Amino acid sequence: MRYDVIIIGAGIAGLYAAMKLPKDKKVLVINKRETFKCNTFYAQGGVALARDKDDIPAHIKDTLEAGDGLCDEEAVKILSENSIEAIDDLIKNGFEFDHDENRKLLYTKEAAHSCERILHAGGDATGRYLHHFLLEHNPHAMLSDTRVVDLLIKSGECYGVTVLDHRQCRNIYAKNVIIASGGVGSLYEYHTNAPCISADMQGLCLMKGIELERMEMLQFHPTVFVDSKNAQKMLLTEALRGEGATIEDENGKRFLFEYDERGELASRDIVSKSMYEYKKKTGMQLYLAFNNFDEKYFEERFPNICKNLRALGFNVPSQRVPISPAFHYAIGGIKSDLKGRVPNVKNLYAIGEVASTRVHGANRLASNSLLEGLVFAKEAALDIIKSSGKKEFIEFGITDEVMSLKEDKAKKNQLRRIMWENVSIIRTKSGLNDALSSINVLLNEKIGRLLKFRLLTAKEIVISALSRKESVGVHTRLEE
Ligand code: SIN
Repeated sequence: MRYDVIIIGAGIAGLYAAMKLPKDKKVLVINKRETFKCNTFYAQGGVALARDKDDIPAHIKDTLEAGDGLCDEEAVKILSENSIEAIDDLIKNGFEFDHDENRKLLYTKEAAHSCERILHAGGDATGRYLHHFLLEHNPHAMLSDTRVVDLLIKSGECYGVTVLDHRQCRNIYAKNVIIASGGVGSLYEYHTNAPCISADMQGLCLMKGIELERMEMLQFHPTVFVDSKNAQKMLLTEALRGEGATIEDENGKRFLFEYDERGELASRDIVSKSMYEYKKKTGMQLYLAFNNFDEKYFEERFPNICKNLRALGFNVPSQRVPISPAFHYAIGGIKSDLKGRVPNVKNLYAIGEVASTRVHGANRLASNSLLEGLVFAKEAALDIIKSSGKKEFIEFGITDEVMSLKEDKAKKNQLRRIMWENVSIIRTKSGLNDALSSINVLLNEKIGRLLKFRLLTAKEIVISALSRKESVGVHTRLEE
């Protein structure tokens, strides 16, 4: 089986790349689990974009400021300057963002944006609506419940992948491979990601000598309801705060103003860190309160959050809800250029959350991630279309490594605790060194290849966190 393009992952970046590759190309989208198990599906708040040409400089400025000095300005320019066209393309193809009775688009605000510039759909179900739309518009074949376990690379060129499909490994060859497999959520005890987002491709890249960068830059979302059994926790979108929800302590005090004059609307890194510090200082439970909302407006604007919280027994909007920060988004990833190309490996691309184009710097501005998925997916698709020609294929053997062992499950849980306790919002040298030693112990045990992917990625995160000694953006280092 030989394809023009294999796309690993069926979230916004993978599916939009598929949509931009013409029907006459032979394209295969490979999806690790059921189609809806991706981070795009769970995105609530919306898609940020420059509202019009005049807003581009402000959108760039807000993105750079949130990124705390570490953004690649060229990447941010590409993101913002292409944002209107990307959204217009969705609308032209029939996607409906929320609008008023005169079909005027409704924009909302999230933290650290200087104006209302976020479009949403289904109220608080933007990701789900977008994902459904992109699946419907995917003109290419899709292979689900299949995981990629190897990249076929020889002499600096990629020739395809090995997949594990119904417990059997086989090679699938392609002229180009796009990795769009998302972030690293399952490395953490508390996270907001789809359960199967587990850093496989990042770990596989490390095995193959492909560079990851900025892996220490991990974003923790401030407002997550964590009182549930599963590792995946319920996100309470930042748009709630953008429209008036407040963060308070047990006594109803809005303590965030002690840390930043923007209070709840400071950038995500500042809010999460302030919550962590305040909780440590006072020992108090923290809450998200919705008193500023009219009941009917709340029910219509945030229908899923409202329904889910009421099902859990919270009488929202009048009752407040306990919250904690939880892991949310991997800013670092597979080093790639502004066309999504992975340096030193011809015909290999990385886009979306799995990639590092340095567009988010040290802290991603809210709702810039769905936009990143769209903009850089198109760049990669165009690059492939432009550069496609003949390719001499070569045959590869298939890895005979054991994929997983019965004991791996407990070790995965151990890893989640190590990462949550030592490599989360506040990092210390001793905590990071403890994490590194524990990860090395696990790596030296008899483990399956799939667990090795997670451990290698976790190790890379810890090494990057150790080597960045100063605090910046989401990366906070304390002495010790
Ligand atoms: C949210 O809705 O708060 C998440 C948006 C994002 O991560 O950009």
